[in-house]
Amino acid sequence: MRLVLVGPPGAGKGTQAQFIASNLSIPKISTGDIFRANVSGGTELGKLAKEYMDRGDLVPDEVTIAMVRDRLSEDDAQEGFLLDGFPRNVPQAEILKKMLAEFGVALDIVLELVVDEDEVVRRLAGRRTCSQCGRIWHVDFDDKKDDICDACGGSLYQRDDDKEETVRRRLEVYQEQTAPLVSYYAEEELLVGVDAAGPVEEVTRRAMEALAPHA
Ligand code: AP5
Ligand code: ZN
Repeated sequence: MRLVLVGPPGAGKGTQAQFIASNLSIPKISTGDIFRANVSGGTELGKLAKEYMDRGDLVPDEVTIAMVRDRLSEDDAQEGFLLDGFPRNVPQAEILKKMLAEFGVALDIVLELVVDEDEVVRRLAGRRTCSQCGRIWHVDFDDKKDDICDACGGSLYQRDDDKEETVRRRLEVYQEQTAPLVSYYAEEELLVGVDAAGPVEEVTRRAMEALAPHA
């Protein structure tokens, strides 16, 4: 299956992506994760991306698109993939469509995680990420009293872009640039909305139900 997850910052895309991709045995390709790996690795791409990420702005399209093209050309993405965080605006969506057509394939479905802004802000304020396995936790919802990952024992960190003013900017950028993707994909007849409120397992169950007819 070739699938895209869209939704505002903090909707739970990364959280759901890890479970959905593993249930479907497809690679999870997260542009945010790739940028963060480059930032911590100190690469040229990381240095460039960090400037934009710290402000809550989008990294320029040409950089992001070249990175996604490389990743989609890898062997493990030939039978299917889950894209988390890409596309992020209509031009990226149009290029993705062309790129997949060159490969002789197309998207099967776009899942929109629907959740209100108050909940998103609560989720981002308490987010912690494992520096070793990348698993995402929440201080309150997962009752995390220490900064240790229960999955692998790695240490947890708070993302730099989860500071209040950066979160505000990321939400603005979502409304201005990413929300129009929802109508774009509705017109393409690829969009399915999933209620992303409630416990993580419940949201995964709804997502898997929505995906079942496309599997
Ligand atoms: P990216 O990493 O993609 O960030 P984002 O879209 O802002 O999304 P988040 O990762 O913040 O949220 P999420 O929806 O994955 O939520 P999560 O599962 O973590 O992008 C970061 C930056 O990189 C961008 O600002 C941009 O600069 C750049 N970038 C990335 N892609 C780009 C592109 N295509 N073009 C240009 N630039 C790009 O969940 C959040 C919290 O909630 C966690 O603590 C989690 O445990 C908790 N939670 C999740 N689900 C639930 C639930 N059901 N109940 C309770 N808690 C929950
Ligand atoms: Zn871990």
